[in-house]
Amino acid sequence: MTQVVIITGASRGIGAATALLAAQRGYAVCVNYRKDVEAAERVATKIKTAGGQAIAVAANVAIESDVMRLFETCDKELGPLTALVNNAGILETQMRIADMDVSRVQRIFATNVIGSFLCAREAVKRMSTKHGGNGGAIVNVSSGAARLGSPGEYVDYAASKGAIDTFTIGLAREVAEENIRVNAVRPGFIYTEMHVSGGEPERVNRLKALVPMKRGGTADEVAKAILWLLSTEASYTTGSFIDVSGGK
Ligand SMILES: NC(=O)c1ccc[n+]([C@@H]2O[C@H](COP(=O)([O-])OP(=O)(O)OC[C@H]3O[C@@H](n4cnc5c(N)ncnc54)[C@H](OP(=O)(O)O)[C@@H]3O)[C@@H](O)[C@H]2O)c1
Repeated sequence: MTQVVIITGASRGIGAATALLAAQRGYAVCVNYRKDVEAAERVATKIKTAGGQAIAVAANVAIESDVMRLFETCDKELGPLTALVNNAGILETQMRIADMDVSRVQRIFATNVIGSFLCAREAVKRMSTKHGGNGGAIVNVSSGAARLGSPGEYVDYAASKGAIDTFTIGLAREVAEENIRVNAVRPGFIYTEMHVSGGEPERVNRLKALVPMKRGGTADEVAKAILWLLSTEASYTTGSFIDVSGGK
């Protein structure tokens, strides 16, 4: 049976690296993105050129009707879903809690938390043996921020990732008997464009001295941990976390 994976936020960064590696491992890949159609199509084309199967589907994971359409499109074009990577995530300009307005906090939680809940719900409805499915695996992309809190930078973002950690444990236990495994990775300081949104593109270089391994990580290094958790190599692993953070 073909393995079919939806990877949210796969037009660049960790999501794109995960999409390319998943295709190399034989998955048919649904490359989700929010607005950068060219970047998403580049990822899908790279997979197809190498002989793999991929589609790029625009959907804002924070909007329920978009999520429904994303999963229905994947059902139709790639076949029964076997895996989900809840990777789409955002942060905003570094600031203290005292300066944050409510709309910002709502935006962060809408994408990072509600988006992951909605996608997991649709994946469970398709994969759970309780709903007639054959099982599958979900990997949530949390963050080292869930452990560290990101003071002075983005406590809202860190708190949203704390919610993802609790969500991972709860959902893992809820669906463990239904042949679905749910795990998370917690990346540390990874070289991607996300840091531009925080207002500090060079953030990883500023902070890398604080990492025991004295360097930032790459999107590929995170992708490898995600692919391991999705694979049958991790068949007895659920409700677990892999910190991909150089020891921090
Ligand atoms: N980079 C790090 O140091 C680091 C550390 C810890 C955890 N993480 C986590 O790793 C994940 C990926 O981060 P990254 O660094 O690769 O980020 P990135 O380079 O900023 O990429 C984010 C991706 O998410 C998509 N996206 C954003 N909002 C979306 C939405 N509402 N619906 C659908 N797609 C959406 C973007 O698509 P468009 O371009 O089309 O908007 C893009 O493909 C995130 O969950 C992040 O919190 C990153």
